[in-house]
Amino acid sequence: MYTIAQQPGPVVGLKYRPSLAPGRDDNVDFYNEFYRPVPREFSAANQEVLRQALLSVPAPRCIVEIGVQRNPLPESSTGILLAHKPGDCLYIGVDIEDKSHLDNASRRIHTLKMDSADRGRVYRQMEAGGAKTIDFLFIDGWHSVNQCLADWQYVERLAPDGVVVMHDTNVHPGPVAVFEAIDEALFIKAKYCTEGPDWGISVVRRRAVAGEGRV
Ligand SMILES: C[S@@+](CC[C@H](N)C(=O)[O-])C[C@H]1O[C@@H](n2cnc3c(N)ncnc32)[C@H](O)[C@@H]1O
Repeated sequence: MYTIAQQPGPVVGLKYRPSLAPGRDDNVDFYNEFYRPVPREFSAANQEVLRQALLSVPAPRCIVEIGVQRNPLPESSTGILLAHKPGDCLYIGVDIEDKSHLDNASRRIHTLKMDSADRGRVYRQMEAGGAKTIDFLFIDGWHSVNQCLADWQYVERLAPDGVVVMHDTNVHPGPVAVFEAIDEALFIKAKYCTEGPDWGISVVRRRAVAGEGRV
């Protein structure tokens, strides 16, 4: 589908820095040649994968979602995360658009209107909420290679037993390229919903490291 070049330069958790250049543009979200109608942007099967991945994390304390509710809340990733997060779990939703209708301080739900590449701002919000690490990271923002590389780097704050879920791993350039580059020596990665009219979703878990546990 894509010719992925392996650029030098370390990126946390990746085998190499992927690039689709020179054939394609690393700032493009989607190539229309891969368009196909899908009944729902975030399918029922996607929702179930996300739900199971969240429930697999014992007592998550901090969720970061990149790309917040664009679909009706019950059909969105955000709806799943907010419905299943423990009450004391901090949720930080990051979107370039205003999603403040979701904010609820008593439920520890905060949204930030910002470019997801500004990780420092999210880390300051985490610190304000008493969270040192991210237990659950969901990536579904701008799907270019460059933006997905920036979003993946939140992994530098991923808890030892944290989980990353990425949407749109079937044909969108950034998720496809970043998924391929994830270092299997460090992570167990799996694609779901790869058949049928679906944009696909992936779950990435750290491999257990002796002596590492929750902090
Ligand atoms: C595919 S939608 C997310 C859909 C959502 N997961 C759902 O289930 O409804 C992508 C979102 O990413 C946001 N976005 C695009 N570029 C962004 C950026 N650079 N930083 C943060 N958010 C961005 C868009 O505003 C949009 O709300």
